Parts: sequence; C-alpha cells; structure tokens
Amino acid sequence: MENVNQAEFWQQRYEQDSIGWDMGQVSPPLKAYIDQLPESAKEQAILVPGAGNAYEVGYLHEQGFTNVTLVDFASAPIAAFAERYPNFPVEHLICADFFELSPEQYQFDWVLEQTFFLCDKSITP
Ligand SMILES: C[S@@+](CC[C@H](N)C(=O)[O-])C[C@H]1O[C@@H](n2cnc3c(N)ncnc32)[C@H](O)[C@@H]1O
Repeated sequence: MENVNQAEFWQQRYEQDSIGWDMGQVSPPLKAYIDQLPESAKEQAILVPGAGNAYEVGYLHEQGFTNVTLVDFASAPIAAFAERYPNFPVEHLICADFFELSPEQYQFDWVLEQTFFLCDKSITP
C-alpha cells in the first residue's frame, strides 16, 4: 500500500498532475475568512502546512500579508509557487516534513489549514 506519510507519494502526484483534491484557486471560505481579518493581522506570523499549490498563501501575499510561511515536503508545488510568486520570500518556502520542524526555530501566531490531512506518523497504513 502506498504511504501517504512519504514525500514521494505526493511528489509523484504533482509530477503526474494527478491532483484531484486541488481546487485551482483559493478556497472560498478561507478567502472570506482572510477578507474579514483586521489590518493588524497582516504582520502576524502565519503558517500554511501541507500547502501544496498554496493558493491561500498566494492570496495572502497578494493582500499584503508579509509574514506567511508555507511548508510542504513535496518540492514540485513549492517550485511552481516560487515561479508564480518571484517576490515571495524564499526563506518562507519550507520544503520539509511538518513533523520534523523544530518548535524552537519555527513559531507562528496562527495556522491556516486546507486539506493537509494531517496524519500521526506513528500510525503506519
Ligand atoms: C491533499 S494535499 C493538499 C494540498 C493543499 N493544501 C490543497 O488544499 O490543495 C496534502 C499536502 O500535504 C503535504 N504533506 C502531507 N504530509 C506532509 C508532512 N508530513 N509534511 C509536509 N507536507 C506534507 C503533501 O505533500 C500535499 O501537498
């Protein structure tokens, strides 16, 4: 059985364009949530884990949010995002296993999550 806890599983899907979950746009409920945030939120440290093609990150960036970080362990969508948003700070594009992030190094005010399907890695299929 394929292991959804492995980066290769997801990387292959992006490389083969087999991404049935991908909305191709910022999720409308999350866009509505972002749109009602106060101006002060634009400075806050926001994490989008398992961001994939990261439409939410792109939208936040376009709206002037300056401290947004995405994490994904598949490199293909991150590379595609970096091409679409050449002005997005590269140090906020983290290609890593979410579970390996150091809490000392990475701290955020809040998390915006869209179908990350967070799995406890101690549970193997
Ligand atoms: C179902 S996709 C959703 C992608 C995106 N959030 C969206 O809504 O289109 C799940 C994403 O989480 C990433 N992912 C899964 N487990 C991960 C982990 N442990 N660390 C980092 N990324 C992970 C995958 O590479 C994939 O891009």
